[in-house]
Amino acid sequence: MTLHPVTVEFSPDSTPSLVSPTIMPSSLTGTPLKLGVLASGNGSNFEAVAQAIEAGKLNAQIQVLIYNNPEAKAAARAVNRGIPTVLLNHRDFQHREDLDQQIVQTLQQYEVEWVIMAGWMRLVTQVLIDAFPDQIINIHPSLLPSFRGVRAVEQALAVGVKITGCTVHLVCLEMDSGAILLQAAVPVLADDTPETLHARIQIQEHRILPPAITLAAQRTRGRPDAI
Ligand code: GAR
Repeated sequence: MTLHPVTVEFSPDSTPSLVSPTIMPSSLTGTPLKLGVLASGNGSNFEAVAQAIEAGKLNAQIQVLIYNNPEAKAAARAVNRGIPTVLLNHRDFQHREDLDQQIVQTLQQYEVEWVIMAGWMRLVTQVLIDAFPDQIINIHPSLLPSFRGVRAVEQALAVGVKITGCTVHLVCLEMDSGAILLQAAVPVLADDTPETLHARIQIQEHRILPPAITLAAQRTRGRPDAI
């Protein structure tokens, strides 16, 4: 059995964070992973992935950004980097499966290997899962299995947990479930608002999403002990 150390660090906002397992996987060798990123909003996690690639910390390239909300700031972030963007507005599709079918077609057109849900606020269907089995990764702002679904940060504050965090996991049909790749924990402070707590969580999201992609890829490239 492989034991992974946990790391306790002081993050840039001076509050401690706990990351488990170690977020320093050995680097991924070979062909860069071909990523397709799905985003609905601000796109700070998209940015974190792009920056990790540029810094040589993630052996990957982003083939395409798909966004469902015309207002999503993630789109401008991609355009600034010369990454192709495709708007697939969910309101244009009658059924969730129809949207997912178009997503699959777009991802295949851009020869995507791994799908990264970086703030993707749509439920997935079997259509997407079947096209990319065990190759879809999601980030969620809670320590799953606590606080699945929307408004996870508000849910955590409402019940008064003292520690929360974020989770990167493989996607299965059940919402915010699937094998956990990495988690990071942060304290909930007495005067936290949803905004201050989410900001603290997002610092950790940006740290763990890129190495979680590496961990997932290592697992499928023959390193079953990698996570
Ligand atoms: C992130 O906090 C992510 O964990 C959350 O949306 C935010 C997107 O931020 N995702 C979910 O709640 C999915 N259930 P970003 O647009 O700045 O990356």
